Amino acid sequence: MPLVTGREILERAYREGYAVAAFNVITLEVLQGVVDAAEAERAPVFLQFNPGNLRHVELHYAAALAQAAAAQASVPVVLHLDHGESFAQAVVCLRAGFTSLMYDGTAAPFEENVAVTRAIREVAAAVGVPVEGELGRIAGREEEIDVAPEAAELTDPEAAREYVERTGVDWLAVAVGNVHGQTARVARLDLERLRRIRGAVSVPLVLHGASGIPDDQVRAAIGLGVCKFNMATQLNQGYLRAMVGAAEAAPQDLRSLLMAARRAVKAAAQERIRLFGASGRA
Ligand code: 13P
Ligand code: ZN
Repeated sequence: MPLVTGREILERAYREGYAVAAFNVITLEVLQGVVDAAEAERAPVFLQFNPGNLRHVELHYAAALAQAAAAQASVPVVLHLDHGESFAQAVVCLRAGFTSLMYDGTAAPFEENVAVTRAIREVAAAVGVPVEGELGRIAGREEEIDVAPEAAELTDPEAAREYVERTGVDWLAVAVGNVHGQTARVARLDLERLRRIRGAVSVPLVLHGASGIPDDQVRAAIGLGVCKFNMATQLNQGYLRAMVGAAEAAPQDLRSLLMAARRAVKAAAQERIRLFGASGRA
């Protein structure tokens, strides 16, 4: 089927109380492994590109690969811009066929974040594409975004209410103790804060840095309105470990390395899709 918009996928997840996985794509084998997992689990899935990965893969390949994947897939696939940097980038991605956008204005002052998010939301809404906004600052590292623990800022529920009202965002990424780039599941979420944010806004919530969130906290967060989890590090680790293992066994066989990487991505993605409750929701 053609790419679907993020809106229909997350609206249903919000109504029915589960979450959808959004995986960052760096190579063809990551994309294939993620779609393999979604097919095996009969789950909807987000393929997402952050600006660094978009520069690496290149916009025309990213769009064409995701479109080709969706066309072959029997499960709904969304193509999402992760941590979008500017209004211009959002428009470029819309034109290329992205079916979901995020704008990350968390490094800018609140008023600027509101103004740019609102402008993006207006153009995107004109063509039926939803927009994810973010408030607060998530600690840790994702590509060029590198936030030291002391610079991190948890999302304020009242500011979240104002941000959602003024921007019209379709869903909101929050900082509640989630950390980008953790290689073990050691995050400690402030679930009380998440509960207060949930009381203040009526849109689905998003947690970035899902690689580091322990299973029990994932379940608790879903119960508090989280409908989308962003994952990158855990997939990348699995990919790399599989490649290194395969390279030791057959150092000159590039295809067997890439096949091992694809299988590792599939296994890691399946495990999280199941935990999020998205299996069988295609
Ligand atoms: P992790 O790499 O920590 O899983 O975070 C991914 C992410 O937040 C993508 O936006
Ligand atoms: Zn992120």
